[in-house]
Amino acid sequence: MHSLIKAFSNSKKMNIKTIYELWPELNWIENIELREKTAKTWQLALDKSVLKPEDLNRIPFTLLAGPDLKVSFMDHKRAVVHIARESGLKMNEFFKDELPVNMDVLISGAILADVGKLLEYELDKDGKSFQGKYGEYLRHPFSGVSLAESCGVPPEVCHIIATHAGEGDLVKRTTEAYIVHHADFMTFLPFKSRLK
Ligand SMILES: [Fe+2]
Repeated sequence: MHSLIKAFSNSKKMNIKTIYELWPELNWIENIELREKTAKTWQLALDKSVLKPEDLNRIPFTLLAGPDLKVSFMDHKRAVVHIARESGLKMNEFFKDELPVNMDVLISGAILADVGKLLEYELDKDGKSFQGKYGEYLRHPFSGVSLAESCGVPPEVCHIIATHAGEGDLVKRTTEAYIVHHADFMTFLPFKSRLK
């Protein structure tokens, strides 16, 4: 484990109730086993991270949209989950058998897409987030899969984590992964650059 990531053994396990307060959308996952594995992955990430739950409501959701960005990490992550869910429901409504969307897989994958950022980010002395050395070596799609697999998250959900960002352009995405990718990018690219 990289030295800059908080030593796991020194940390008290994050209360699972805190995870459900951070992510009320976990309750949208109908399969109890998948819901618990998804929550456990966030618990593990927070246990390993230098970031605390309150930091997630403070730090900006991306480091790539300039210093004035006000949208918090949690606001963006939750927006992506809400947009992905609405999109999945509409796909099932209009395309049904042609393009069935597994809602549990979609929601779990959307909740976990950026969980690896908890290992990617570090905080400077002023509490500003930046990409640490670990994150330079292993961007969050990679660290996210690592965290999720160690909590027993199934491959069809890990696939969404792995392919949600630019790295995923190199492989064939599932329908659920396409939805999360686009929900993420449609709420990121206009913050980064847009025609005004
Ligand atoms: Fe991401």
